[in-house]
Amino acid sequence: MLRGIVNGVLLIALLGSLGAVWSLRPDPARPNHEIFPEMVRTQRYNAFAANPNFADGKTLQGPVAGTIARGHLPLHYAATPADALRASEELKTPYGAPDAAVQARGAFVFANFCQVCHGSAGRGDGPVPLRGYPAPPSLLAERAMKMKGGQMFHILSYGQNNMPSYAGQLSREDRWKAIAHVRELQAKAAKEAASAPAPAPAPAGAPAAPKAAGNVPGGAS
Ligand code: HEC
Repeated sequence: MLRGIVNGVLLIALLGSLGAVWSLRPDPARPNHEIFPEMVRTQRYNAFAANPNFADGKTLQGPVAGTIARGHLPLHYAATPADALRASEELKTPYGAPDAAVQARGAFVFANFCQVCHGSAGRGDGPVPLRGYPAPPSLLAERAMKMKGGQMFHILSYGQNNMPSYAGQLSREDRWKAIAHVRELQAKAAKEAASAPAPAPAPAGAPAAPKAAGNVPGGAS
């Protein structure tokens, strides 16, 4: 008797839930009920949209002062002649005796980032100065030959006069490797000059003063 009642109740419950499923079956074209719609669709600001949540009214926030990007150690120099001098005293190349891999990378970096201005041999006769950009002094001139690696690194990192900074494009390692290639070009030129029977031709466009604005080197070879 009791069993019959229980079975009856269960049957009614079953039919009731089937009926509920049937009558409440979701319309696939409409979204289901959302409990916290703000969490599903948060209010979002586009990167360059005005944003009242920040003091400066911008969405895109700069890094906090003192932030160090991964893999980028801070370089504590300024773009001043005094700091160029300090860098020339303090900074030493990690590639004093470059191996083949360093040399290959240095040649690659130089060909891609320096050659346009400095020329493939470093004579300052790349296509950019030949088209009117202030010609760089020859990297084979005495001044550059005697220039300490640290100073070159400062020039590559902070720029100098018409030479732009390459800190944004080249990692520190690549900057040092490019310098290693400059040293290689210089050593090659020195060796050629020493073995040449006649006095070696003066490197093209080698001005005495660092400011050589506008002079296009002649006798490019
Ligand atoms: C846009 C042209 C340009 C590019 C590219 C360029 N340089 Fe220069 N570079 C110059 C100019 C111009 C100067 C002379 C700056 C001055 O007047 O002080 C210079 C100066 C230098 C000096 C100092 C030479 C000296 O005797 O004073 C070095 C070293 C040097 N560059 C290395 C490099 C290296 C290495 C690269 C590649 C990472 C490079 N440069 C890329 C234009 C360029």
